[in-house]
Order: sequence, then structure tokens, then C-alpha cells
Amino acid sequence: MPIYTKNLGWVLETANLGYAIGLDAHGLLANRYWGARLPYPEDYPPPADPRAWPFHNTAHLTNEEFPAYAGPKYIDPCLKVTFFDGVRDTLLNYFSAEIKDLKGVQELILTLNDAYYPLQVKLHYRCHVEHDLIERWAEVENLGDHPITIERAFSAQWHFPRGSQYRLSHLAGRWLDETHLHREILHPGKLVLESRRLTTSHNANPWFALDRGSATEEQGDVWFGVLAWSGNWKLVAETTDFSSTRLSLGVNDWDFAWRLEGGQTYSTPSSIAGYTPQGFGAASRILHNFVRDRLLPHGHTLHKVLYNSWEATTFKVDEPSQVQLAEIAVKMGIELFVLDDGWFQKRDLDNAGLGDWWPDEVKFPNGLGGLIKAVNGLGMQFGLWVEPEMVNPDSDLYRAHSDWVIHFPTRPRSEIRQQLILNFARPDVQEYIIGMLDKLLTDNNIAFIKWDMNRNVSEPGWPDAPGEARELWVRYVYGVYRVWQTLSDRHPQVIWQSCSGGGGRADLGILRVADQVWTSDNTEATARLSIQDGFSQVFPANVMEAWVTDAGRGLVPLEVRFHVSMCGSLGVGGNLLHWDKSERDLAASLIAQYKAIRPLVQLGDQYRLISPQEHAYSAVQYVDKAKTESALFVFRTFIPDPAQLPQIYLRGLDLRSRYEVEGYGVRSGAAWMSAGLFVPLKNLESKLVRIRKTE
Ligand code: GLA
Repeated sequence: MPIYTKNLGWVLETANLGYAIGLDAHGLLANRYWGARLPYPEDYPPPADPRAWPFHNTAHLTNEEFPAYAGPKYIDPCLKVTFFDGVRDTLLNYFSAEIKDLKGVQELILTLNDAYYPLQVKLHYRCHVEHDLIERWAEVENLGDHPITIERAFSAQWHFPRGSQYRLSHLAGRWLDETHLHREILHPGKLVLESRRLTTSHNANPWFALDRGSATEEQGDVWFGVLAWSGNWKLVAETTDFSSTRLSLGVNDWDFAWRLEGGQTYSTPSSIAGYTPQGFGAASRILHNFVRDRLLPHGHTLHKVLYNSWEATTFKVDEPSQVQLAEIAVKMGIELFVLDDGWFQKRDLDNAGLGDWWPDEVKFPNGLGGLIKAVNGLGMQFGLWVEPEMVNPDSDLYRAHSDWVIHFPTRPRSEIRQQLILNFARPDVQEYIIGMLDKLLTDNNIAFIKWDMNRNVSEPGWPDAPGEARELWVRYVYGVYRVWQTLSDRHPQVIWQSCSGGGGRADLGILRVADQVWTSDNTEATARLSIQDGFSQVFPANVMEAWVTDAGRGLVPLEVRFHVSMCGSLGVGGNLLHWDKSERDLAASLIAQYKAIRPLVQLGDQYRLISPQEHAYSAVQYVDKAKTESALFVFRTFIPDPAQLPQIYLRGLDLRSRYEVEGYGVRSGAAWMSAGLFVPLKNLESKLVRIRKTE
């Protein structure tokens, strides 16, 4: 039984983890345990019974599952509301529990009621048994007649075994330099990570991993989790004044308010978390499996090798130039040709056209049909770039509906890249964009859409809001999800890519509609190594789109640039007209090699052997689920000679089975993992080593 009840306590178990909740002596709903699954129900400890202390109540010391702002407690709460009469204190009492079975997936629902006001909170816990993850979210319901204003409603507070000196791993970066891994010890107080940019952001990611300071890729207790949300979010890691450590995660409460009328319910997005004693590598693989098995719309479908013409032609696109590129691309083994920005009405530069989603009459006098026919005729699928949430002031859409953008009437409408943001919280905007894109997808044979979002918000006003204008932050994201999901439902064959000026919208919320993510606008291979390593902490390789472009051409060998991109969902984005025969031939042979290892790269288990974030000589390995085949990539950027390069110890192989490591002979899995192999490389060299089980 993944979920069972014992003595007004509840135990949630997955294959390897246990999570226990209970009512403490004061009636508070407290976390009792989160860690390795224990053999017997009585093994799970009872709730702690903290002693009272001057200056605050015991609740301040309790590991409450969903603390509300109430009484003399000063830890960071999950819920803060204002009642109609101005009262801003929320006293939640346990009311009832229910265990549901939804097609084999068990869910625990714990209901809490305010002691006086008709406010009900339902805490949902879903057990993903084989994936070793627990998914949590909350519903806040107004059971009365008077409105309630929600000022904060996080998805979860996660508690760690008693102690301080935990270390937080998180991702940070910026446009062109996303997802760098940072690890820092938590000290008393709070460490806050967030996005206030309307999207997930390039700057931080709603992912965490906590350890006791000594976990490695392969061993050590790691508690980890995400928020499945593509808008403003906040993560608060708090080490309290009594040395307990907790982490809250949810929609950002900054500039947020939600007016909950009588009878209405507000649901938070999900926070999904797990525990492993096997280090950061295992934590990533748990998330990778979950993303592929449970989230991605097209699940385990292998992603095609694509060509994207953006870096080659930028806005200067037309039918002949694209067909010319397509003819070269197909000879290299490309399977999907993607036309990027520049194809639509009056889009000659970035100053016009966004919003007018029909082909430019000068560049494509016969519509997109001629190009698509040519691409399909060559045996490739066709894909297209759109940026549905945006509008240029110089567009027919803006001229007709200047009130549709996010703005304050008395403030300037700050442009970034000469564009403004359509208010996707508005149903009329959603309907308009659904209509436009539905027509595009109905009229044309489109297999792939790159959905871009190239600016952050400013002046976040919604003048015609029917109610509380600060609901914008949440309603906007639900609007994006609705438009995207509606189009996906109508055109289920389309594979969608989430792009936001590179990796600005990478999260487990968007992966319910998008199968791939554009990792970064930075396509320079040596910089990409670190970005990709950070990205892999959360996302599997099939989600990580990686193109070989002309960045670094003449400096970094083509083979290295390919090897870096072959670690994800391979694409090519260079100007093929400038590639000479030897470059095209080498590309064709590397694309063929990629296709041979694609299933295990995209769908296998990833082992980060030596981190490029720490070393100029790095290695990453992919192993298929059956442990019969593996691919090892080794990279050296720049190390002054004479260099002592490290031995590489493989991972993920059967101990007693024999494996042939290309160029190194046949030995047992145990030998390759314990004795390892030495892969000598010069500066700016890389190597792909294939590994096959022989018996
Ligand atoms: C963003 C994307 C790029 C490209 C351009 C087009 O920057 O990340 O890949 O599509 O927009 O304008």
C-alpha cells in the first residue's frame, strides 16, 4: 500500500522512499519523516513535541506541512490571506483525511479548516510509486459568501531531518549563460530564489537538491524537488533559530493577490520531490524518468535531428533560400527542417510583424505551401517558429487592439526588442491566438513548432481586469497553458519546443505541453558544456535541444561541436552554404553516428562522470535501460600542458557481464567501472566511445 493510515498519522511510500505525516500533541499537522523507506509502519517516528519558548508558540518550532500565517510564529508560512473584515490571521485545524485511488495512483487528501472563517484548505499528496516521487499541491476554498484575498499560497513546505548545515544545490545564470550549478551551505536565516519576470527565467530555476554537505554524484542523502510552474515562482530555504531546515516552494507572492469569491477554489501548481541515498546523479535520473514517462506529451518518441535556419539567414528568409538550405541539410541526414523567425507579415527586422501570423506576401508569395512541399518532397518534416505571446507596436494586431497588451495606462509601455506582451490572462486574447495558430496548423503540414517568448515583463498592469489585477501573474500562465494545450489537442502530431530567448522557460509545468526545450541562445560548444551539465540536473537529454552552429567555427573543431550537441536532442543551425565539402561530409557521418546512439542518449540513463562545471576535462555517459549499450563522451577544452588527465570510471554497467569498449578491448562491467579507462585528448579535442555488451 503506497499510502496508509496509522494512529491519526499517514505514511506515504514509493519504491524506495517513505514520507510520514501526523497530528502532534497540539493538533498541528506535522511532518514526521522524509527519507529512505522503512521496513515497518512503527518505524516511522511520531511527530516531535517541541517545548514552548518565550517569544513564540510551539507552532513556530513545528514542522508543519502547510503552515499558515497565524499566532506568534515567525517561520515562513505557505498561506497568508486577508478576510473580508480585515483579519489577517489564519488558524488552520485538521478536519478530515481521504485516500483516493485514481487508476492505480494513490492520493492522500488532508483537509484543514479555519477555526472561525469558512476557509478550507485541501492538501493533496500523490504517490508516484515506481518513480520514487511525491507530488503535492494545495486547494484553497472559500466556503462562505464574503470574498477572501489570498496574498500567498505556496504549493508545499518540505522538511528535512532535524539538523542545520544543509547544502543547497541550485541553478543560476542569465540570458546566453543559463543553468550553472551552485552549491552553498544554508546558514540561519532564509535563502530566497525566485522569478519575477512572468516566465520561469534564465536566471534561476524552480529546482532544488539538499544534502548534508558531503553528497557526491554517486552517494549521499539527497532530497530534491521542483515546482511544475512556468511563471513567477519563489523558493525559500529556511534554517530556523532552532536548527531545523525547511524549504517552501510556490507561486511568487511578490505583487500577487487573488480574490477568492464565495464558492471559489484556488489551486496551486504541483511541487514534486524525492529522496535518494545515491547522490545527485540518482536524483537527476529519477526526475529524467518521471519527465519522460509521465509528463512529455509524446513520451518516448525519439526526437528528430533538425536543421534550424535562424543563425544562417536570420530575418532574410524566402522560399528559394530555404529550399537551398534544405537540399544541403537532407544530404547530411537531417530529418526536420525548421524555418525560424522572419517568415510572417512584414517581418524584415525585429521591429515589426509580431502578432500577424500569416506568411509575408513578398517573401512567400505562394504562402508556406511551396516550401513545405519542397521540404516534404526531400523526405524531411517541416517545422516553424512562432512567438504567440508577443506583439510589435508596428503590426496590424496592435493597431487594432492596443489595449490587449500588459500595461498601465499612465506609464510608458517599455519595449524590449521592440515588442510588448499580449495579456494572455484575457480570454479574448487567448481565443484570437488560438484562432490564428489553429488556421496556420490546419492550412499547412507542420510537424514541429518552436514557441518562443523573447522578453521579460514590465509595467505589469491589466487595466480591464474583471477583478483583482494582481491575478495577472497566475492567470497569464494558465492562459499560455490553455492556448498551447488547445492547439496540441487539435493538432496532436505537432511536437512543440519551449523557447524563451534560449532557456527562459524550462520547467516541469511547460513539459506537459512541450517535448523539447531550447537550452540556450549560446551555442558555442565549450560554453555549452557547463550549461548542458546544469540543465541535466533536472531535465533528460531528449528534452535538451542542442544545435551545432557556426559559433566557434575556425576555433573549435566541428567534431567537438557535434559531440557536445550529440549529448542532447541533436540539431544543426550553422550556415550550411558556408560549410565546405569536408565539413558537410563529417557532419553527415556524425549525424549517422548520433542516430545509432540516439535511443540510449535520449531515453537511457545519464551519468555525469566528470563535471565540465569543475574541470576542463569532462565526461558524460549514457546507458540504455537494458544495460546492453552505452556511449561515453569525453571533452577537453583547455588545460596547459603537461597535463595529467584523469582516469574515467564508467557507470551503469552489469558487474559480471562483459563489455567491449571501442578501441579498448573486452572486460567485465566491474572492471570498466573499478579500473576504468584512460582517454587521452589534446586541447579542444573530444571523443565518442561506444560500448556494447558482448555476453
Ligand atoms: C530567440 C530564440 C532564437 C531565435 C530568435 C528569433 O532569441 O532563442 O533561437 O529563434 O529568437 O528571433
